[in-house]
Amino acid sequence: MAEPKENLQMEKIVSLCKRRGFIFQSSEIYGGLNGFWDYGPLGAELKRNVKELWWNTMTRQRDDVAGLEATIIMSPEIWKASGHVATFSDPMIDCKTCKGRFRADQISEIPCPQKPSRMVNECAGEKTEARPFNLMFKTHTGPLESDENIAYLRPETAQAIFAQFKNVLETARQKVPFGIAQVGKAFRNEVTPRNFTFRSREFEQMELEFFIKPDEVIQAIHGSVATISENPQSAIRNPQSNWGWQAWHQYWVEERVRFYEGIGLARATLGFHHQTPAELAHYARACTDILFKFPFSKKDEAGNAAGDELEGIAARSDFDLSQHQRFSGKPMGVFDEELRAAWAKLPKEKQDDLWKRYYEHRKNYLTKSAKPDETPEQISQQATEDANGLAKGQYLPHVIEPSAGVDRLILALIANAYSEVTKTDDKGKSETTVVMKFHPRVAPVKVGVFPLLKNKPELVAKAQAIYELLRPHLKTVYDDGGSIGKRYARQDEAGTPFCVTIDFDTLGEKPELLDTVTVRHRDDGKQERLKISELLEFLLSKIR
Ligand code: GLY
Repeated sequence: MAEPKENLQMEKIVSLCKRRGFIFQSSEIYGGLNGFWDYGPLGAELKRNVKELWWNTMTRQRDDVAGLEATIIMSPEIWKASGHVATFSDPMIDCKTCKGRFRADQISEIPCPQKPSRMVNECAGEKTEARPFNLMFKTHTGPLESDENIAYLRPETAQAIFAQFKNVLETARQKVPFGIAQVGKAFRNEVTPRNFTFRSREFEQMELEFFIKPDEVIQAIHGSVATISENPQSAIRNPQSNWGWQAWHQYWVEERVRFYEGIGLARATLGFHHQTPAELAHYARACTDILFKFPFSKKDEAGNAAGDELEGIAARSDFDLSQHQRFSGKPMGVFDEELRAAWAKLPKEKQDDLWKRYYEHRKNYLTKSAKPDETPEQISQQATEDANGLAKGQYLPHVIEPSAGVDRLILALIANAYSEVTKTDDKGKSETTVVMKFHPRVAPVKVGVFPLLKNKPELVAKAQAIYELLRPHLKTVYDDGGSIGKRYARQDEAGTPFCVTIDFDTLGEKPELLDTVTVRHRDDGKQERLKISELLEFLLSKIR
């Protein structure tokens, strides 16, 4: 169960997570369960804050995204349509000597269970050939364990969004371009879970499926598809009706980076990976991964790390809606009056050009996804029908998918926040303490409230009143145990950005300071004095 002791920084982080109640091993009293993790009191608050911020940013602050909360177990047909039953697998090898099972593409990085000083690819154990291992957890619905009632724990939240696309479109009264967002658990039976919570078997995703018009439809309506070449970072922030999939893809990469910056992950801590054609999932035509430089991320010879994936922003074309249309027999396309009207006004040669391109796109998809009994003639007939739909204002939307892992992000925030401060006192004695420098927006506890002394009833009563004033609005803790220095140190380790102390001046010892408190800032230890009447607004302004 233990993490390999390969990385001192990770060891410190894992130990702090347990000691302070961020993350515990699941089922720890029974020896743990590999690949499963529980969030303790501080971790649960941190995770809640992150999900709430994502939900706010992606849905409530936008007019063009609606939310969904679907079930974890869905019809198994969904996973046949999505391709997961057939292809969602990792290559696995067995070691006949130690009986271990490993992901074949990671054996140069996984220590041998019997000789941890060597990696699995270097140890003498006899290995099998690699074979595919499907990552979906299987179960059964109802009391019979037969093949007819096999079900799967969802390996991604995305598919429920595609399956409910028409229901959401109609009830949310949206028009393409628009998105559907979902946060929830997903499950992957990873061959070798590793790097603490980074690769877990049960995890949470925050996924947006943003539906857009195909480029042929944009061209029919607007004459051409906009490209973003000049000053892309500012131009890309204002969506335009003539954007094609590449501009929307760029837009979402930029939006997501701004989200990470807004919760304290500076651009310099992030990296980007543009997936090569060989790396792309079966559904994607492009994918940009946003990476974070974790302590375990591989470094090159110069000591620079590219990072590991926090989020993938994939351009999935119309693959998913097409698949669900074919497998369910239910239409998944949309009707667009603007397209119908624009098409009727296009010159014949433009219509022919767009028709042919859309036909070719549909024919390629239908050929790649054909069932064994489908003939080229049937495929051509279906592609013809699809392309004829353009004149009637009908098409299948394409989709851009920003898909983020919550647990990976929590680990990134913890690693990013971790810092040590060493102080030496007048007698030369040094002490190192941990300060978790979370951005106030995500910090598990926003404010600590302390009476200077716990045996002075007037100080305690005032501190309790301030605690009651703040707690309906912000996660607040009350602490009267030990010296003020110890209390600050406890909150530094929890990552609490502000500590409020109620002292004798609060009670009016210096009359001009009556009803004021000190607010101590975690990152530099500086204090300022504020009126109690201004305290709540001051704190709220820091987390907006
Ligand atoms: N929906 C994409 C993923 O789960 O990776």
